Amino acid sequence: MTDPGGKFRFKPLFIDGIHVAYGKAGVLSDVSMEILPGRITCLLGANGAGKSTLIRAVLGLTPPRQGSIAFDGMDITGAPTHAIVGKGIACIPEGRRIFPKMSAQENLLMGAFQERSKELIRARLEKVYGLFPRLAERRAQLAGTMSGGEQAMVSIGRGLMSAPKLLIIDEPSLGLSPALVNENFRIIRRICEEGTAVFLVEQNVRQTLAIAHYGYVLSQGRVVAGGLPAELKENEQVRKAYFG
Ligand SMILES: Nc1ncnc2c1ncn2[C@@H]1O[C@H](COP(=O)(O)OP(=O)(O)OP(=O)(O)O)[C@@H](O)[C@H]1O
Ligand SMILES: [Mg+2]
Repeated sequence: MTDPGGKFRFKPLFIDGIHVAYGKAGVLSDVSMEILPGRITCLLGANGAGKSTLIRAVLGLTPPRQGSIAFDGMDITGAPTHAIVGKGIACIPEGRRIFPKMSAQENLLMGAFQERSKELIRARLEKVYGLFPRLAERRAQLAGTMSGGEQAMVSIGRGLMSAPKLLIIDEPSLGLSPALVNENFRIIRRICEEGTAVFLVEQNVRQTLAIAHYGYVLSQGRVVAGGLPAELKENEQVRKAYFG
């Protein structure tokens, strides 16, 4: 989303050598990544590789045991989640977590709870409805009665309602038909073009590499590859794991 004040420009998200564990079980080892403004950066990896754990670390939900995370020029390692979100990172979690008993519009408004200005909220709502005309038509429908694809739109829209600098999306295409995946990926591309950087966690390798500007591959908690989509497609490990 564009913003006249240029607030969507930011210094990168730097993840520097982090180690993350749940109790004694180590999940991430020495993970480093750079997520830059103006780009879609993707994170690929099999089930259990540690993708969602990496997001939890960035959001301060499972702070790293070692290493550091910086966003927009500030060290956010171990900072409380609300402070990290307040710096301009929004996350659409795995499984979407919409509020089923609330309307589509009420769900969207939940994403702007930190914003006081009614005018700004209305403008953001109109932007989201511009991206997802289907949601505009169905704004009064209970979210729990919407189709899976529509619920995915609600969750992405809700993430945008805080006008984040960086939007993290954990597996948006899970459970969607190929046509809906295409539609949502087209919108993710547009979100990036309009000024919001995207960190896209996916297992849908072909389509993700088609829209991403840069990508990383996580395997058993380690970064095993990083590069441009064309480079990743040629990478031996990626080919073996995903392209047979
Ligand atoms: N709260 C937790 N307590 C203990 N272990 C956990 C916890 N959350 C995740 N794990 C373990 O950490 C590892 C990485 O899980 P994670 O959810 O990060 O994987 P993922 O790459 O997101 O997988 P998926 O593609 O299936 O979503 C898994 O072995 C998982 O069982
Ligand atoms: Mg996950």
